[in-house]
Amino acid sequence: MKRPIRVLVAKPGLDGHDRGALIVAQGLRDAGMEVIYTGLRQTVAQIVAAAVDEDVDCIGLSSLSGAHMSLFPALLDELQKEGANDILVIGGGVIPPTDVRALKALGIAEIFTPGSTVTEMADFIRSRVRKNRGTERAAADPASAPQVIDHIGVAVVSLEDALRFYRDHLGLQVVHEEMIPDQHVRAAFLQLGETHIELLESTSEHGPIARFIAKRGPGVHHVAYRVDSVSEWLERARSSGLRVIDDAPRTGGQHKLIAFVHPASAHGVLTEYCQIVQE
Ligand code: CO
Repeated sequence: MKRPIRVLVAKPGLDGHDRGALIVAQGLRDAGMEVIYTGLRQTVAQIVAAAVDEDVDCIGLSSLSGAHMSLFPALLDELQKEGANDILVIGGGVIPPTDVRALKALGIAEIFTPGSTVTEMADFIRSRVRKNRGTERAAADPASAPQVIDHIGVAVVSLEDALRFYRDHLGLQVVHEEMIPDQHVRAAFLQLGETHIELLESTSEHGPIARFIAKRGPGVHHVAYRVDSVSEWLERARSSGLRVIDDAPRTGGQHKLIAFVHPASAHGVLTEYCQIVQE
């Protein structure tokens, strides 16, 4: 998740000097950022398209032509239109103080006039992007949180015996049965609203379910949360230092994509991320 800060350095408009922009680009690279330089004489639409394509955190606009009062606001409008107004925009050039105030009021985050150093610029970008990414993550969490338990896996000694309780007593319907050979498992899925109870019987005494039962007895084996993207959740788990069992998503029962977090990182419960794959 700690990807480097990406900056697009752009020179909108018609002026033909890019020494300053090149120095800034190199300076930001030296500060550890990934910098894309668009070259001279780009239109506002080209700059915004490149910024979206390259998924940058920041656009640095350079203008020596005096056209900043039309070009900079036009770029903000274009970003808005493309739904990319979360991208930080800074400007640089020979820009009088009254224009600086006006541009900042419009939404240019900062204007660096001659005499500012690239280090100042890099520090500013870094602190603002960090803040942006922080709020993004906080805001994204409730939305991307799992909405439903996809299934609860229950380790049983005998499917036949277990069905007497789950199917015959509780009245849940068996909607699917499946052999999962690489896990040495025979599974039966019972429907419970949007959720399933997944009964797991081992087909070999060496399988994970057999080992689980030998150690802890039959019972709840794992809880599976339905998520939009198993790979994203794996990445997130890893970057939070959780112990994951799978390095990459794999195919589980009912052709779903799954991956497990070790019980040691989930308060004793083997935890599964589970993604429905559209066929
Ligand atoms: Co499962």
